[in-house]
Parts: sequence; C-alpha cells; structure tokens
Amino acid sequence: MIVVYPGSFDPITNGHLDIINRAVCICDKLIVAVGSNESKKPTFTVEERIDLIRAAVGDCENIQITGFTGLLADFVRSAGSKTVIKGLRAMSDFEYEFQMALLNKKLEPDMETLFMMTSVNYSYLSSSAVKEIARNGGCINGLVPECIRERIVKKLTCR
Ligand code: PNS
Repeated sequence: MIVVYPGSFDPITNGHLDIINRAVCICDKLIVAVGSNESKKPTFTVEERIDLIRAAVGDCENIQITGFTGLLADFVRSAGSKTVIKGLRAMSDFEYEFQMALLNKKLEPDMETLFMMTSVNYSYLSSSAVKEIARNGGCINGLVPECIRERIVKKLTCR
C-alpha cells in the first residue's frame, strides 16, 4: 500500500518526524508530500522544506519526499495511491481535518484519510510555535530534528 502524508512542513518538527517513522511501518511506501496551505504564508520555500525533511529522515528506501501543487486528491491519484495519513494532536485539529477528509472524499470517493494520534510528547508542538520561539531567540532543542536545528534558527533569525 502506498500512503501519502501531506502537509506544509514549514518546517518539519519532531512531531512530523514521529508520524513519518510510525507511518512507514504500516505501509509499503510513504510519500511525504509538501504542499501549500493557502491560508498560511510559508517561511521556507518548498525546496528548502523538502531538503530539511530529507536531512531529518535520512536514507530510507520506503520514503519518498516530494512537493505538490493543486489539489491533494489529484496528487494522491497521480501517485498511484488511495490513502492519506494525517497526524492528530488534539481535538482542536479534528474539526479542520474532518472537513478536509470529507472534501477530499467528495473529490475522490476512492480515497481514504487515516488519522494517527501524535505521541503524547509532541502533542503541544507545531511548526508555527517552533518559528515563534526561534524568531524570539528561544531554545528549540528537542522540538525539531537536531541535524536541521541550526538551519532553522539561522533562517528565522537572519534579517
Ligand atoms: O500542514 P497543513 O497546513 O495541515 O497542510 C495542509 C495541506 C498542504 C495538506 C492542505 O492545505 C492541502 O491539501 N492543500 C492542497 C489543496 C487541497 O487539496 N485542499 C483540500 C480541498 S479544499
């Protein structure tokens, strides 16, 4: 089974990485798909986000990392998949994700959206929180993968 894990990943956090590492165990191939959420202005370009994910994930033949534009439903179909996985942190994520899952089902009736609960350690974590902390000189140790921490801090503190 090919599973697509879509998101903005602006930037990837340890919460995202946790979902990637667990999701790849329940499928044959996981496609991490970096898209644009039109309601958010991204800090990192799609290429930068893909590079950061690649560095964080390392070499894993079952994980493909790519960008996509347009509708997620179209991307999933073109990737030969029928399954999307999303992480859920709290009830506050649920309403938005429920709407997305139903809209995607309307667009592509064969497509299923699966939800994976975040690990409790990361339930408070988001890319926006990471960016706010780093921009204001706070410590993001333990919030993002260590090997990309400096790149993230540099981008956010460079004026
Ligand atoms: O990390 P995010 O912000 O939850 O990621 C959102 C993303 C990129 C997965 C979502 O905005 C998306 O699927 N965008 C593509 C457009 C689309 O298909 N929207 C759903 C139907 S309105």
